[in-house]
Amino acid sequence: MNILGFESSCDETGVAVVSFEGAEPPRLRGQALHSQVQMHEAYGGVVPELASRDHVRRALPLAEAALAEAGVALRDIDLVAFTRGPGLAGALLVGAGVACGLAAALCRPTLGIHHLEGHLLSPFLSADPPQFPFAALLVSGGHTQLMRVDGVGRYELLGETIDDAAGEAFDKSAKLLGLGYPGGPALARLAESGNGHAFELPRPLLHQPNLDFSFAGLKTAVMTTLKRLGTEVSPEQRADLAASTQAAIVEVLVRKSMRALRETGLRRLVVAGGVGANAMLRGELGAACARLGAKVHYPELHLCTDNGAMIALAAAMRCQAGLAVLSDEHRFSVRPRWDLAEAG
Ligand code: KG4
Ligand code: ZN
Repeated sequence: MNILGFESSCDETGVAVVSFEGAEPPRLRGQALHSQVQMHEAYGGVVPELASRDHVRRALPLAEAALAEAGVALRDIDLVAFTRGPGLAGALLVGAGVACGLAAALCRPTLGIHHLEGHLLSPFLSADPPQFPFAALLVSGGHTQLMRVDGVGRYELLGETIDDAAGEAFDKSAKLLGLGYPGGPALARLAESGNGHAFELPRPLLHQPNLDFSFAGLKTAVMTTLKRLGTEVSPEQRADLAASTQAAIVEVLVRKSMRALRETGLRRLVVAGGVGANAMLRGELGAACARLGAKVHYPELHLCTDNGAMIALAAAMRCQAGLAVLSDEHRFSVRPRWDLAEAG
């Protein structure tokens, strides 16, 4: 079975072809991706209307590129999957519209996928895939959640952020430090030359006996620190502040993930979403998991941020699990707000 998957929930247009036979693990055959980062950079963040218009321009050429790389003809596609939510309404509508239009022309069914389910299952495309059940740390620009995952479609929320997401904390702090958008990778780069202990920044909810997060106070602390330093802030101090910010975010994510493993008794942790690309987070999680006798799984680095492969893969795994409610109607709706636990 060949699946064509479209991702367009935010500022990346991704298209991919994933194939599977019977119960064999799905394989990524081809993929194409366009990041709008450069376009949004000038505005310091994603401009939703510009994002939608760019998805319109990119979707079909990227689909052609993904099919060409896969060596699969359009007529051999059996199912067209797309991100149904959560995300920017207009951006989602473009992907859904293109996917359902193509499916209608091909007389093939469609399947709407939850964006976070895509992230969550993306490590199944890696050389060392996890096994169910596992705990999952989902850390993207819009979400920070700990989940218990017992199988495809069996997702239980253990804890989440009560305000900003971890990626948002990276992005907002980076903006205050005058770094470009998206801030995560830029802040991580600046942090490399800084001292993470230089500034004492808050780690809210760290010692609360739950699995929730709060990151909104962090950007306020970064702002107050910068104000206190005034115009005299040196390059060293900026690097120290970046390193201290990263250290605060990473410590909270690691401690809460370990608590989730201890409380559930699970010994496998899957880390997914853009922040999962962070090198310090990977290092610290690796060390903490080793101490606990747990194993940590990541998607391949190029599949950490948004892409079409994870959407096609989630569709494939849903089909294999008998959980795909395929639609032949080619009508579509999107869900800009959508809890993963409801996507069962
Ligand atoms: O999963 P993703 O690509 O998009 C969403 O679904 O939100 O995540 C994007 C987020 C952004 O906040 C970005 O700054 C962050 O992931 N990010 C990073 C790194 N790479 C991406 N944060 C910290 N360190 C990184 N290396
Ligand atoms: Zn994402």
